[in-house]
Amino acid sequence: MCGIVGYIGNKKACPILIAGLTRLEYRGYDSAGVSTIEKKGLSIKKAKGRVKNLNTLDGINELEGTIGIAHTRWATHGKPSDENAHPHQDNSKTFSVVHNGIIENYTELRNLLENNGYHFYSQTDTEVIPNLIHYYFTKDKEKDSIMKFLRAVRNACLDLKGSYAIEVISSYFPDNMIVVRKDSPLVIGTCENEKYISSDIPAILSYTRDFYLLNDLEFTILSRTSAKFFDTELNEIKKKTDVIEWNSSAAEKDGYEDFMLKEIYEQPTAVRETIGSRISNNLKCEFEELKFTKEQLKKINKIYIIACGTAMHAGLSGKNTIEKLCRIPTEVDIASEFRYRDPIIDKNTLCIFISQSGETADTIAALKLAKSEGATTIAISNVIGSSITREADYSIYTHAGPEIAVASTKAYTSQVVLINILAIYFAEILKSTKKEILDNLKQEILSLPKKIEETLKCKDQILEFAKKVYQEKDMFFLGRGIDETVAKEGSLKLKEISYIHSESYAAGELKHGPIALIENGVTVIGIMTDEKLVEKTISNIQEVITRGAKTLIITNQKINYNSFNEAIVIPETNPLVSPILSVIPLQLLSYFISKEKGLDVDKPRNLAKSVTVE
Ligand code: F6R
Repeated sequence: MCGIVGYIGNKKACPILIAGLTRLEYRGYDSAGVSTIEKKGLSIKKAKGRVKNLNTLDGINELEGTIGIAHTRWATHGKPSDENAHPHQDNSKTFSVVHNGIIENYTELRNLLENNGYHFYSQTDTEVIPNLIHYYFTKDKEKDSIMKFLRAVRNACLDLKGSYAIEVISSYFPDNMIVVRKDSPLVIGTCENEKYISSDIPAILSYTRDFYLLNDLEFTILSRTSAKFFDTELNEIKKKTDVIEWNSSAAEKDGYEDFMLKEIYEQPTAVRETIGSRISNNLKCEFEELKFTKEQLKKINKIYIIACGTAMHAGLSGKNTIEKLCRIPTEVDIASEFRYRDPIIDKNTLCIFISQSGETADTIAALKLAKSEGATTIAISNVIGSSITREADYSIYTHAGPEIAVASTKAYTSQVVLINILAIYFAEILKSTKKEILDNLKQEILSLPKKIEETLKCKDQILEFAKKVYQEKDMFFLGRGIDETVAKEGSLKLKEISYIHSESYAAGELKHGPIALIENGVTVIGIMTDEKLVEKTISNIQEVITRGAKTLIITNQKINYNSFNEAIVIPETNPLVSPILSVIPLQLLSYFISKEKGLDVDKPRNLAKSVTVE
């Protein structure tokens, strides 16, 4: 939620900041702003609405400053408005701040500051930060110095409860910027005489591949040529840069109309990258990041897979494979529920956390809880160095490349692939499944990139179907077993980007209530990829056809397609990995419906990528 960018160098900061915000807009897009250090002091330009509105503001093109901070907002405290847009300043206009996160005790801090004569001009939680910095800066009787500035920022941060990534500039220190994070993402890209700061790597990947990945409460003083890091006691700490291998064009649309379509089409490559060398052509399965022994795995009597949204749906498919291959009871939990439901965890519990961004607040909190109760933890993420990967005992990466569209597509398929490989790896150590079965599954996984390419050929058929149904108000997604997990994902995708209400059900459950909603013309989508269950699902679909439903089926089974309005036939595969293929027509369906309705596919209303607030 919210994207922040910063620049400190020798070029004009404003165009760089606006370009960075445009790339980060998927994190929030209800208002935006920049603050730069000009000869006359701090400038502030901000406005309600999309980042492009900034270009229309008076005087924006005259900004000459070479240091600046910027923000694109997803409103939490205070409605989207010019006043609530960031950056915010203290009353004396000496400090400008942008902030991503939530300050939980802002009312208390606001009262304290008001009692000390400060006034507030916005409804945001953020406005307390520059004023607190000013408060501590003026209370400090030492001579002005960069360390005094740092002390004021540190003291202010120690008063804050909640999550934050902040950038601070001051008219008193025209050659510096201070940044710090706690439970919200922030990275620093470094070049010889420039520093680029961002909420995530792709936004600044075109400038550098060398990044400092900040840990919580590492206070950082930036100048054009240096980055100095301090702990909360203000002792200097040494940090090394990480080299990020992503190609910068991965963060561009590359001729596609939208990031979502590009990312759907990137799935063969993304899945190839996820498999990487984890399954070799001679069917050896290796995880160089993991070092589990048979004794360790034998002790595990319970696995939780914890995630949110689409990542949770990938977890459902992981449960299916882990239970089948490893015979370890596995539960899937929504992170925001897990953290508050007093789950039964001990040292024999393994918790697997899945998060594309690695920055989802609920997932991070659930991970901290699991660790504190003694569980072994594994993070599955797409973002190197992201928060969950720094918290977990083990981290494994999907390597799907940056995912920019708010609706997750290639991250999902690569998560499903990775958790299946993880299950195979465990099963081999545990010797819980026959070699032939595991080898067959490995072969299937290796053939997935080609089969995804094959599946993508259904595009035109889906487009035609989308044109027929895009004005509908309700849709239903049905499946049994593994297909139900895909029904859930298809339904979520449709809601997110086409704003059509939809429900997903286990096909056999329909007659226990929801079938009352089926009436003439309602669209029902059935997913059937498991030979053992296909006849059962067909019977359930017949029940809705009898009640007037229009049906689309997605199948790899040899069945009579004539009873359905539309049948999408996808390549055959092992049911354990079938979601990787059967989800693709559903991704395309929600995409084309959204396009037919003229909606913003990449930035659906009310949503933001990377949900860094609770
Ligand atoms: C749906 C979607 C969300 C995310 C969820 C978790 O298309 O993108 O449901 O899957 O917010 O995000 P991560 O995986 O970053 O933890």
